[in-house]
Amino acid sequence: MLGFGNVNRTLVRLLQEKTADLRRRQIAWRITGVATRRLGWIADPQGLDPSLLLEKNFPVGSLKATAPRNVRDWLHAAQADVLFEATSLNVQDGQPAIDHLRAALEAGAHAITANKGPVVHAHKELCALADSKGLSFLFESSVMDGVPIFSMFRDSLPAIHLRGFRGILNSTTNVILSGMEEGLSFEQSLKKAQEVGVAETDPMHDIEGWDAAVKVAALVTVLMGEKIALDTIQREGIRGLSGEAVRAARESGHPYKLVCRAQRHGNGIRASVRPEQVPLSDPLAWVAGTSNIVYFETDMFPGLAITEINPGLEATSYGLLADFIRAVSD
Ligand SMILES: NC(=O)c1ccc[n+]([C@@H]2O[C@H](COP(=O)([O-])OP(=O)(O)OC[C@H]3O[C@@H](n4cnc5c(N)ncnc54)[C@H](OP(=O)(O)O)[C@@H]3O)[C@@H](O)[C@H]2O)c1
Repeated sequence: MLGFGNVNRTLVRLLQEKTADLRRRQIAWRITGVATRRLGWIADPQGLDPSLLLEKNFPVGSLKATAPRNVRDWLHAAQADVLFEATSLNVQDGQPAIDHLRAALEAGAHAITANKGPVVHAHKELCALADSKGLSFLFESSVMDGVPIFSMFRDSLPAIHLRGFRGILNSTTNVILSGMEEGLSFEQSLKKAQEVGVAETDPMHDIEGWDAAVKVAALVTVLMGEKIALDTIQREGIRGLSGEAVRAARESGHPYKLVCRAQRHGNGIRASVRPEQVPLSDPLAWVAGTSNIVYFETDMFPGLAITEINPGLEATSYGLLADFIRAVSD
């Protein structure tokens, strides 16, 4: 496990909970390595104690059965079959996660990530490398948590053409807008979102539409097969909206939502992330709080909508678990 924050910690709990289900599928697991910036590279091929790992201040010293110095040494020392990469997003170039995933595939391990950066910046390269090694590069949790979007297109919608999509893909801004509709100012609603743990301490990434833009880029890259530079996605966040404007929009029957869009246009893609007023007849208007929606337009299904209601961290970690099962069952 590379990165040991919310997502990979929840994955450890989920692996424990689902051990019997996995066993029924002939899958056994043990965690042979954990690495973060602060902890360094911890590896023990015999397996680290999951309960100890989940303790708040686990005794790092006692776990350092080996002392690898870099990702390649670490993967080797851990004898890893699978890497779960869940480190922080680097919007600009997806590093160092891309190097870590590449190292895993080169070392013979499946590479599974919750991180959008490598999907946007290195999807083609990592898929090709995985194919050449007979391994999997999977990233279901990177957009809409664990909802099976990428695997649905890959496994269940063969030969379909995606013409475009629109949706609400960022929970923090959706929660803030919902709070403003209920009477709070932008600042009050942001504070509340931070208090309940939805918004990060530094929420500007979400508020300015960066997180949503990276998700748009990931969907365009993988599902529409087009490379798209982040700076070509027209991007406007929600900071310019006042509480009065948000409430008036809701009362007029056209509430504000931070809408993500991408559409084929000639030989290219037009994509945007910006606050839009949507009519109540549109399914996007009803998606509130931490819920997300994506509405696909394909040549076979004119409208195919997937809605995720109130996802928790388990949903994200479930995406990693489902990828794990897919990777080791193939
Ligand atoms: N949380 C969600 O609901 C959610 C949903 C979908 C996708 N994701 C994605 O999943 C990833 C992880 O999210 P999270 O919520 O678990 O984040 P988090 O709680 O902030 O944890 C991030 C972890 O990554 C480690 N890390 C960061 N940069 C690193 C580096 N260069 N080398 C080694 N370790 C590094 C951190 O270690 P230190 O603390 O030691 O620095 C920390 O353990 C992110 O890319 C996020 O966008 C999250």
